[in-house]
Amino acid sequence: MSSESNYVIAIDGPSAAGKSSISRYIAAKKGFNYLDTGSMYRAIAFYLKENGVSPTEVDKIVVALKDIDITFHPGENGNDIYLNSVNVSGKIRNTEIAEIASRISAYPDVRKFLLEKQRSIIKQGKNILEGRDTTTVVAPEANLKVYLTAENTVRANRRWQELVAAGSDISEQEVLESINSRDERDTTRKESPLKIHPDAVVIDTTYLSFNEVAEKILDNLPE
Ligand code: DC
Repeated sequence: MSSESNYVIAIDGPSAAGKSSISRYIAAKKGFNYLDTGSMYRAIAFYLKENGVSPTEVDKIVVALKDIDITFHPGENGNDIYLNSVNVSGKIRNTEIAEIASRISAYPDVRKFLLEKQRSIIKQGKNILEGRDTTTVVAPEANLKVYLTAENTVRANRRWQELVAAGSDISEQEVLESINSRDERDTTRKESPLKIHPDAVVIDTTYLSFNEVAEKILDNLPE
């Protein structure tokens, strides 16, 4: 890693590949700081929705960024995300916010805004940085780069179970369609598209248990 930053493990991959849960687990086990970059796109999406700005209104979005302050503070399940000093962790995990986040993440100004924040956060301590572009753009020199993936039907099933457990009545088919359209958008966008870093350890979790995935990552952790 460059002299500017410290120790970074970057975990990349498509939506619902299990990046968040595995990153949270490794962070807790090893005492690393956990940075969920997707939650930052979701926080911006939440702000825009609350303030009646459509994801297509790029000029208004660029102006809105000036009024957005995102910070992390320790909570019950690791770090909670705060938008302008309000904890929004429980309000950003739904398909509507995910959809807006995916749309606005294509805008260069939004990416630049968050990239600066992400790089400044990982300058200190030991970090697990998670999200799609963390290995290719945010921290290409990370000490370990992991690309976590799984077949789309398996990812949809896992995400659907999470949403249902959280009280949603969404169908599995709707979740699959949402995942397919986000995959399409995330891989084909011009700005920082989802792709595999040549040095990344690729882990296909389709037929692996959570513990097997964790074990593979822990086995690859550099000193
Ligand atoms: O990982 P997630 O589902 O919480 O991410 C929400 C959206 O944010 C996702 O559709 C794409 C975008 N995102 C991104 O463009 N770059 C990242 N590093 C993380 C997320």
